[in-house]
Amino acid sequence: MSDNKFDVVVIGSGPGGYVAAIRAAQLGLKTACVEKDPAFGGTCLNVGCIPSKALLQASGEYAHAGKTLARHGVVFEGLSLDLDAMMNHKEKVVTDLTKGIAHLFKNSGIISFAGTGALGANGEVIVSNLDGSETKLEAGATIIATGSTATSLPSIEIDEKRIVSSTGALALEAVPSHLAVIGAGYIGLEMASVWGRLGAKITVIEFLDRIVPGMDGELAAQFQKILRRQKMKFKLSTKVVAAEASDAGVTLTMEPVNGGAQETLDADVVLVAVGRRPYTEGLGLEQAGVALDKAGCIEVGENYETNVAGIYAIGDVIKGPMLAHKAEDEGVAVAETIAGQKSHVNYAAIPGVVYTHPELASVGQTQEQLEESGVDYNSGSFPFIANGRARAMSATDGFVKILTDAASDRILGVHIMGADAGTLIAEAVLAIELGASAEDLARTCHAHPTLSEAIKEAALDVAERAIHV
Ligand code: NAI
Repeated sequence: MSDNKFDVVVIGSGPGGYVAAIRAAQLGLKTACVEKDPAFGGTCLNVGCIPSKALLQASGEYAHAGKTLARHGVVFEGLSLDLDAMMNHKEKVVTDLTKGIAHLFKNSGIISFAGTGALGANGEVIVSNLDGSETKLEAGATIIATGSTATSLPSIEIDEKRIVSSTGALALEAVPSHLAVIGAGYIGLEMASVWGRLGAKITVIEFLDRIVPGMDGELAAQFQKILRRQKMKFKLSTKVVAAEASDAGVTLTMEPVNGGAQETLDADVVLVAVGRRPYTEGLGLEQAGVALDKAGCIEVGENYETNVAGIYAIGDVIKGPMLAHKAEDEGVAVAETIAGQKSHVNYAAIPGVVYTHPELASVGQTQEQLEESGVDYNSGSFPFIANGRARAMSATDGFVKILTDAASDRILGVHIMGADAGTLIAEAVLAIELGASAEDLARTCHAHPTLSEAIKEAALDVAERAIHV
């Protein structure tokens, strides 16, 4: 095989792309990965999941030290914030992890190309190198894993200083005195939490009449009450129609979605977090004849192959939740499929987590979805206030809710709000993956005292036999 001839060429090195490349290499396929950014890892590692978690952890500890620890008899004097150190920690975490991917590639024998990849004729991938030259790669199979990019609103231009996307919100040089957040979804509420904990006044403006759309409604309503207690202000059913930035800050003009008078809001910084769209620019999809759907996602069949033979797509560029772990699982599945194995992703068992305090975590169907589809279901729930470990931690906000099929007791959805919900949900994901019933969970021994006992109790509550309420 010539140097530039590969079994698999992956375009993009985010969680979808780099995992696909590693799995393909494990299966003995000669694999290349093309990445246009200076570091591997895509949005998740560089400007998404990982840096946001570094800041959420650090700001959470700051808030905990300032507010909750005294209750535990731990008293701080002279607590102060060193934002530069916090940002340096974030940068180091990102740098170490992106370098880690370079090591994994090296160990797996994956060849990486620094440049922008596009589809050429006859299975070629053309790399526009950083020095302006071009390299042609011959690809047996091409996997497009180019991810997504932030969307904005027609009247608003993101400058990443005063009006920022999540990228700018992760790198503010000072704590704003007032941060306005447009969009009460995953990004909006995580970044509002970071800067609110560090001292910013927060106003969240949301188009819909509720926050975290897609999450269970009961969970969302209780979550909003808790965020209000954390001093976040919400303007629901409100749309932003204009944003005027100056050196002093930004003036937003808003109006009620259902009609009414306009009002203005002054903020130092505005975060626009109204969703993301598939990133497909410059890939040469049209010339290659690769079909997109109405939402701009690359259309794929069950095996992730597009309408053009040999060209596959995974992750945020195809339909489904824009989540790193969904992209990773698709990366494994597509590599195994290309290698001739049978592989699949169970889309009924993909968790979603919002890493606020408390955390929200969800898998399977929401109560609203079950009601809409007319499924006869049972529900069990358990509040963390009745869990011994949660009380010891002063983490009593929240609850676990389990939804089951009324006839078979099979678990259809689990929704958790509480400390460590993102970790706790793994048990529920496994339960759904294995087709478990609430009875199975209820009869599984859970260590005492742990937060996970709340899951067991919620499972018991499905049959109205919870012990501790
Ligand atoms: P999102 O879809 O979660 O939330 C966007 C919010 O903006 C929605 O509530 C929507 O109703 C609202 N909105 C839309 N247009 C609006 C307008 N004109 N005015 C006011 N509100 C408006 O999108 P988000 O937060 O930008 O995140 C993008 C993607 O990144 C999501 O798909 C999410 O899954 C992923 N992500 C995941 C994280 C995690 O797993 N923890 C963290 C951050 C992002």
